[in-house]
Formats: sequence, C-alpha cells, structure tokens
Amino acid sequence: VLADHIGIEQVLTNLLRNAADAMAGRPGPPVIDVSTRLIDPEADESATVQVTVRDTGPGLQGRSLDELCTAFFSTKQDGMGLGLGICRSIVEQHGGRLAATDHPEGGACFSFNLPVSVAMPMLEPA
Ligand SMILES: Nc1ncnc2c1ncn2[C@@H]1O[C@H](COP(=O)(O)OP(=O)(O)O)[C@@H](O)[C@H]1O
Ligand SMILES: [Mg+2]
Repeated sequence: VLADHIGIEQVLTNLLRNAADAMAGRPGPPVIDVSTRLIDPEADESATVQVTVRDTGPGLQGRSLDELCTAFFSTKQDGMGLGLGICRSIVEQHGGRLAATDHPEGGACFSFNLPVSVAMPMLEPA
C-alpha cells in the first residue's frame, strides 16, 4: 500500500489505546491481537490489505460505528471522543474503510482496509 505512515501510525495508536482502555479493570487476561491479511479483489475493486485490532473488552455493546465515530462521543470520564472519527477520516483519505464488529468470543474488532497500489513499472533503460 501507499500510505502516509504518520497518519496510519495515528490510526493504530488510537485503536490500540482504545483497546487497552476497554480492557482496563476487567476480569480475565487483557489481550490485544493485531493481524493483517490480504483480501482478494471483488469484481472490479482492487485488492486490499486489512489490518484488524481485536481486544478482550466488553465489545461494541450494541453501538454502531457511526455512533462511536461521532465527535465528542465518549463513555470515558476523561475521554475526548475524537479518536475514532479521526481514524475514520484518515483511513478514508487513503481510499480505505474503517469497520467495527463484535468478536464471537467476546471483545471488539476494529479493522481498516487499504487498497493495494499497483507497482510502478520499471522503466527500460534506453
Ligand atoms: N475497543 C473498544 N471496545 C469498546 N468500546 C470502544 C472501543 N473503542 C472505542 N470504543 C467506544 O467508542 C468511544 C469513542 O472512542 P474514541 O473516539 O476513541 O474516543 P475516546 O477514546 O476519547 O472515548 C469510546 O469512549 C468507547 O465507548
Ligand atoms: Mg480513543
């Protein structure tokens, strides 16, 4: 992928911090699982790289991603409520998409897809 590494670092930092916050003070071992996979293109779309951050917190608790991304929405006492909205706009600026689901075994999964860029063809020497 072609990406602004500072922007993508900010997305990952926000997702990891949210995962850590979601697990704080809960029973059971706190686990954050970060994975990447290549997703094959569908129809005329390009292939994407999907990055997923999974935690063992309470999950989405019935809230939609739109709700969680709303500016100043926070369930934390000292929360700014800006992190996920910023994540979503950075990902969308890259032509990608942010998604959130509950993991079947508990916890939340936040993932984003970035389109795989077509490699620049090597120029033949004259
Ligand atoms: N991994 C997660 N598990 C459960 N809820 C989450 C998770 N990440 C975000 N949320 C919910 O989304 C809200 C908004 O997140 P965010 O925009 O990053 O703001 P903040 O972290 O300042 O609260 C959080 O307050 C929390 O309720
Ligand atoms: Mg946050």
